[in-house]
Amino acid sequence: MLKGKKILLGVTGSIAAYKAALLVRILVKEGAEVKVIMTAAAKDFISPLTLGTLTKNPVITDLFKDDAWANHVMLGRWADLMLIAPLSCNTLARMAAGICDNLLLSVYLSAACPVMVAPAMDEDMWKHPATRRNLRTLATFGHHVVQVGTGELASGLYGEGRMAEPDDILKEIVGHFHQQGSLKGKKAMVTAGPTFEHIDPVRFIGNHSSGKMGVAIARELLNRGAEVTLILGPATGELQLEGLDTIRVQTAREMYDACHRAFGETDITVMAAAVADYTPALVAPEKIKKNEEDWSLTLKKTPDILKSLGQMKKDGQTLVGFALETRNERDNALSKLAQKNADIIVLNSLTDQGAGFGKDTNKITVFDRNGGERRYELKSKTEVAKDIVDYIMEYTHA
Ligand code: PMT
Repeated sequence: MLKGKKILLGVTGSIAAYKAALLVRILVKEGAEVKVIMTAAAKDFISPLTLGTLTKNPVITDLFKDDAWANHVMLGRWADLMLIAPLSCNTLARMAAGICDNLLLSVYLSAACPVMVAPAMDEDMWKHPATRRNLRTLATFGHHVVQVGTGELASGLYGEGRMAEPDDILKEIVGHFHQQGSLKGKKAMVTAGPTFEHIDPVRFIGNHSSGKMGVAIARELLNRGAEVTLILGPATGELQLEGLDTIRVQTAREMYDACHRAFGETDITVMAAAVADYTPALVAPEKIKKNEEDWSLTLKKTPDILKSLGQMKKDGQTLVGFALETRNERDNALSKLAQKNADIIVLNSLTDQGAGFGKDTNKITVFDRNGGERRYELKSKTEVAKDIVDYIMEYTHA
């Protein structure tokens, strides 16, 4: 199942490190080539000799050994997947903070491949707000976190925090590689961010969209092998755009033009941008001076991009819209699905804590033309993006 796959396994200091031997054995048995990096603390729990013998590759533990330098950049490039199992609380915190004080962290920071982690810790540490925050940070980096199990812990207590069993980690790895190529040969277009409608050279009408939701969807489509065009409004925060063919636009009209240029070629289109519904009827060429007590601005409707694409849609093209609502959420989402001739509508409501603009999390309900409806829990936008792409794939194969 993993023939030809190169897996870089990072082992950190945790009692669960003993499971690394079993994990390596099943990865190798499935045809993967495995190289292991251990932290100094990991060596107290399992010997490098054991893992080196099982992988038939020398285990790397130090940046410098016998006057030689371990090339952490090339190790990160060699791998198809970097798996850190077990991931201790300490290494988790260092990854989230970008600290680079051992070989494992140097390789992690320079790894160009997807990263999967299997945490292991005591229940109280697992539930600590700092651990929760660090895991959310890793999710925003696009890393896959393997769920911990419940059972007897190193402390002798019973609870959550056990590292997933090697067989379960194997399933996640196989699933990851299976998904990775699932959209190969497909073209996708995603809109993200706000639009700014100019009033004069210094003022505009805009909204609070950060672009995070749309970029997470674009990244997920890219991870699964699609060729992705991202049409991005004037979002100002830091966004991970590497690998995405990104077209920057400012206004609803520019977004409309960019979408129409790309749409004919696309198999999957996801409209996550918060597009202004109205724009000033006239843009003043000079800064408007403050004179009157009251000032009225005449606005005109912007083109409805999603609706116009819905009218052009051909068989085989999948069109996904969003609905951002504050009341009558379900009814409004369903009427957008019908009116805009979309295949799928993703509803997010500003009344849900942690959902919507700017946040790293979102809470969605998805509706489709065949009457499908699925509600999801509050999750990181990276995980929400996975759910949306999974839904699209299920829908298109339905
Ligand atoms: O960017 P983030 O900070 O991560 O926040 C994400 C988000 C909340 C912006 C996103 O999840 C979201 O809900 N995007 C859609 C926001 C929106 O404009 O909703 P709407 O209900 O007004 O529009 C419905 C659909 O029509 C959307 O797909 C929108 O892109 C599209 N539309 C709207 C107006 C217009 N003129 N043309 C359009 O294509």
